[in-house]
Amino acid sequence: MRVSLTRMLFRTLDDLRLFTHRVLEAPGMQTNKRFARYAWAVLAYNLLVILWGAFVRATGSGAGCGSHWPLCNGEVVPQAPEVETLIELAHRLTSGLAGVFVVILFIWAFRAFRKGHPVRRAATLSLIFIITEGLVGAGLVLFEWVADDASLGRVLSMAVHLVNTMLLLASLTLTVWWAGGGPDIDLRRRGEARWLVGIALLGMLALSSAGALTALGDTLFRPDTLAEGFRQDFSAAAHFLERLRIGHPLLAILFGVYLLFVTRHLASLRPSPAVKHFARIVLTLFVVQFLAGLLNVFLLAPVWMQLAHLLLADFLWISIVLLGASGLAVTAAEPVPEALHPQRSG
Ligand code: HEM
Repeated sequence: MRVSLTRMLFRTLDDLRLFTHRVLEAPGMQTNKRFARYAWAVLAYNLLVILWGAFVRATGSGAGCGSHWPLCNGEVVPQAPEVETLIELAHRLTSGLAGVFVVILFIWAFRAFRKGHPVRRAATLSLIFIITEGLVGAGLVLFEWVADDASLGRVLSMAVHLVNTMLLLASLTLTVWWAGGGPDIDLRRRGEARWLVGIALLGMLALSSAGALTALGDTLFRPDTLAEGFRQDFSAAAHFLERLRIGHPLLAILFGVYLLFVTRHLASLRPSPAVKHFARIVLTLFVVQFLAGLLNVFLLAPVWMQLAHLLLADFLWISIVLLGASGLAVTAAEPVPEALHPQRSG
């Protein structure tokens, strides 16, 4: 089961890569294949860092370096570290490296693409969101919103962290998309599609934030059996994180109905091969994710299942972003601004 899920995810990722690189080159759009490959690798690397971050939370290792940041327990290299310290330290090092990769992405984008090219915009957003990601992570440690802490500050910071992560992934995805020749978007000429896509993106952020709170609830108040979990969900004496847990699957059902509507409507409004392709991927991933969510509950959310559920959520988000980008894209018949014409193609 685990092997075939992983294989399916990598096939989806590869499918998206081939699609963005080979099929979607908008005529007249400046591209840079080497940059696009690099941006792709940065996106994939960030997915791994995000998974490791969830592993830190799920194993309660967030306090592995004490409340010290950027030092770990007051030292650059901790002496005789415990497992939690190693897990937390690895997250700090790998996320620091992600920051370096994004800085390189940003500088390269400005050197390789002309002023006004959307790659520059997406790379700038990637830089902003990797900086805010680091600040949120540092905040968690400095305010001690880690390990067994169940304060309101921690609850809010979990949601903020997740939304920031999703925005970082969206910016990196769009960097890949535009560097590989995906057409620019035009919000002004896409009135109805703009609303459809906007609500889908906001819906996914709301659903995922609710998921992050569910994950926190499962980490802090792990039930021993399914029956105990359900009792906690409906008990007036339970912590609000436990009572909130039921909201996440209910939101998922609502969101699924909306996705069904939006994919159909967008495909008839903007019937391009790209829109149809991503609409299919979005719906398939949603169904798989929904089943994974159910399995998560029945298995009492073991760590590996939490990671699989988060990875699926990231893939679903990336697909929704690409569905949105192709649904809002300028068409071949519309004029391409001067800044987007080929210049130094790689
Ligand atoms: C289909 C759309 C869904 C999306 C996009 C989604 C997304 C998410 C996200 C982003 C998290 C937080 C992961 C983390 O921070 O580690 C999460 C957690 C969780 N979700 Fe979902 N979810 C979906 C459906 C469901 C359904 C239908 C169920 C159950 C019936 C479910 C059960 C859970 C549980 C138990 C957790 C906490 C454990 C964990 O972190 O995996 N989800 N979800």
